[in-house]
Amino acid sequence: MSSASGTLLIDPTHRLHVVDKRLFGSFVEHMGRSIYTGIFEPGHPRADATGFRQDVATLIKELAPTLLRYPGGNFVSTYNWEDGVGPVEKRPVRLDPAWRATEPNTVGTNEFIAWCRAVGSEPMLAFNLGTRGLAEALQYWEYCNHPGGTALSNLRIAHGYPEPYNVRLWCLGNEMDGPWQMGHKTAEEYGRLACETARALKQCDPTLELVVAGSCSAGLPTYPEWDRIVLEHTYEFVDHISLHIYVNDNELPDLPAYLAVGLRMDAMIRTISATCDYVKALKRGKKDIHLAFDEWNVWHWKNMHAPGFKAWDHAPAQVEQIYTVTEAVIFGSLILSLLRHADRVRIGNLAQLVNVIAPIMTVPGGPSWKQTIFYPFRDFSRHGRGEVIFSRVESPTYTTKEFGEVPYVEAVAVRAPDTGEITIFAINRHLTEALPLTIATGKPLEHRTLTHTDPQATNTAEHPDRVTPCAAPQPGTLPPLSWNVLRFSPIA
Ligand code: AHR
Repeated sequence: MSSASGTLLIDPTHRLHVVDKRLFGSFVEHMGRSIYTGIFEPGHPRADATGFRQDVATLIKELAPTLLRYPGGNFVSTYNWEDGVGPVEKRPVRLDPAWRATEPNTVGTNEFIAWCRAVGSEPMLAFNLGTRGLAEALQYWEYCNHPGGTALSNLRIAHGYPEPYNVRLWCLGNEMDGPWQMGHKTAEEYGRLACETARALKQCDPTLELVVAGSCSAGLPTYPEWDRIVLEHTYEFVDHISLHIYVNDNELPDLPAYLAVGLRMDAMIRTISATCDYVKALKRGKKDIHLAFDEWNVWHWKNMHAPGFKAWDHAPAQVEQIYTVTEAVIFGSLILSLLRHADRVRIGNLAQLVNVIAPIMTVPGGPSWKQTIFYPFRDFSRHGRGEVIFSRVESPTYTTKEFGEVPYVEAVAVRAPDTGEITIFAINRHLTEALPLTIATGKPLEHRTLTHTDPQATNTAEHPDRVTPCAAPQPGTLPPLSWNVLRFSPIA
């Protein structure tokens, strides 16, 4: 392609859907250094009296995730929530079989929820349906949400938390379709357990929102039959079905193909939406089941452990992926997919938040810094809260084996309901050419871009600002290999 350009047609009067603010969530798991030496490091010069790092809290507030999923992930499937409450000195030290680490339980539900709300997010908690079941789920809910006057609600009060947490969103286990999951089940086994757990919880509080564990990978042989079977068991009692996606360059021949890998998310959304609609029709149901992408990111599965990893260490460095600018653009394409499908996808959790496949990194006892993917998420969270309006991109394309014809330019337009301002999020997948994008709309306010001449450029603890957003050199033109935010005044 040469001297090419793109055109974005938008119609601000044509609202497609309102974006649920829970699409801007993230995820904090007891895994690697996510919690210990990530968000929590007593003795760190920037830690507050409770041990939480305020430098990290400041960066999280900049990202403004609306929702934080906790405590796992694979971790939850052997977790006893009781181990993480009450006087810290009495809490048991346990083995965490999922990540082969030692868990001291210094941080548990009470510390997490207090911190989560202090950084401006709402908790989304997960039940252990791996090694535990219905009874423990009811007990955890009672401890968290019941006002008082019962053994478990009084226990919370005795622990120093008089107000019920009123947690709205609960996950019925995690990745139960994955053979690596502790307590992995068949779709029938899990469907029955999830159904009975959900039925009991809804009987206690019909206003809870429950997320049933759907497919955690389109690559598993059970996909998407798992989702059909699980939904046939649970349709009446659940509100959302979870999906997970981690994209990477495995089995992709080259960089252009890698840049298109986010299209797998669109395919997964289409398939599971259709599965939900099939079950709704089968059940002669009235409600739609929504999708919760409660783990999504780029993750190349290399370096699972840092050198020197020993099984059963406490908070060993795990999957501390360093993201290139290329991966920030791919990450941006996942954001575009979430926005395009925000009528159906109501919940999104960037997995994860700190140190483990994360936008924020920390040095124990030292500074914290922003990865390349920090910036697209911050833009999404700041400017994505509105209404997705009709847009159509005309873009030159290239061909890949897996994805067929792929447009160089992808874009989504969001209108802010209060000001009427329009934000266009756009990527340019072309590795060498800038692409002018003709947009017929209001007055341009700003065009910021994240790009770099080296596709492998990263930020590191030593060079934390190698890749940062800047004003576009030629406003209206998308630099090669770039993530872009273009803002326009409302149309008069
Ligand atoms: O986010 C890291 C891990 O990825 C989670 O624990 C698990 O749910 C998924 O496989």
